Amino acid sequence: MALRYKDKVTIVTGGSKGIGKGCVEVFVRHGAKVVFCARGEKDGKAVEAEVNAKGPGEATFIPCDVTKEDQIMNVIDQTVKKYGRIDCLINNAGRHPPFHPIDDFSAEDFRQLLNMNLVNYFLFAKYSLPHLRKTQGNIINDSSLVGQIGQLEAVTYVSTKGAITAMTKALAIDEAKYNVRVNSIAPGNIWTPMWAEGAESTENAEATVKAGENCQLLGRMGTIEESGLACLYLAADATFCTGIELNLSGGAELSYGNKSRMSGKGVYD
Ligand SMILES: NC(=O)c1ccc[n+]([C@@H]2O[C@H](COP(=O)([O-])OP(=O)(O)OC[C@H]3O[C@@H](n4cnc5c(N)ncnc54)[C@H](OP(=O)(O)O)[C@@H]3O)[C@@H](O)[C@H]2O)c1
Repeated sequence: MALRYKDKVTIVTGGSKGIGKGCVEVFVRHGAKVVFCARGEKDGKAVEAEVNAKGPGEATFIPCDVTKEDQIMNVIDQTVKKYGRIDCLINNAGRHPPFHPIDDFSAEDFRQLLNMNLVNYFLFAKYSLPHLRKTQGNIINDSSLVGQIGQLEAVTYVSTKGAITAMTKALAIDEAKYNVRVNSIAPGNIWTPMWAEGAESTENAEATVKAGENCQLLGRMGTIEESGLACLYLAADATFCTGIELNLSGGAELSYGNKSRMSGKGVYD
């Protein structure tokens, strides 16, 4: 198999599970040297061992809480210390809080989520960019389809994701002079631990998963492998793309649906 990202040094945030893990696996399979972070050391070390056993690239896990600026700086420092360069940053670690109307979110809830979902991406970009400019590298921000189309009872989450999409374009403009590309992916429903935990918290998990699958024209959720491949495409192949958002949504945003609160079948039911 041709290696599409051989020896390219790639940072993946939130790489121990879900979409981030898919990125770690795909990039290592294509020869990259991946540094990934998460809070849970047991899961991180397990993924590190699993992907290193397969190669041909390599992975290094560094524990990091992405809400802490000093820990973000440590991930960048350790990466540069080990490899002397950074070619790609995949900003992925994020959280979807439980669904509520605005009345039930406090300003503090919103501030914490902005820090977790948005400021974390900003800081990883800020501290990686001096290195990415040297390699003419690229950034991939994991946004969300709901940043474009909204989502019921998720005003804070949707706001953070819309801001990530906007930040991607702003950075693409500023960094073009260094030949650094900045793009985003917009996943719809991807089957990950986050999705599974969300479904388990509902009355009928099986029905929730089925409804989640039916949101896509393709009649299923996306996989973490497909998410990794979409990021690899942006990093390795899409060399004339900057400031774009790649929908990874199985067509979920297309066509009309029963959305009116009057229909009895819409988003309010
Ligand atoms: N799944 C979907 O359908 C979907 C759709 C659209 C967008 N997205 C976006 O995709 C991204 C990943 O989602 P996912 O579904 O793959 O989530 P997931 O299954 O919950 O995995 C999240 C990963 O991030 C890490 N993480 C969480 N909080 C962290 C923190 N404070 N510091 C460092 N690492 C942290 C987790 O490890 P630890 O818990 O050990 O730290 C884990 O490795 C998020 O930005 C999400 O908004 C997902």
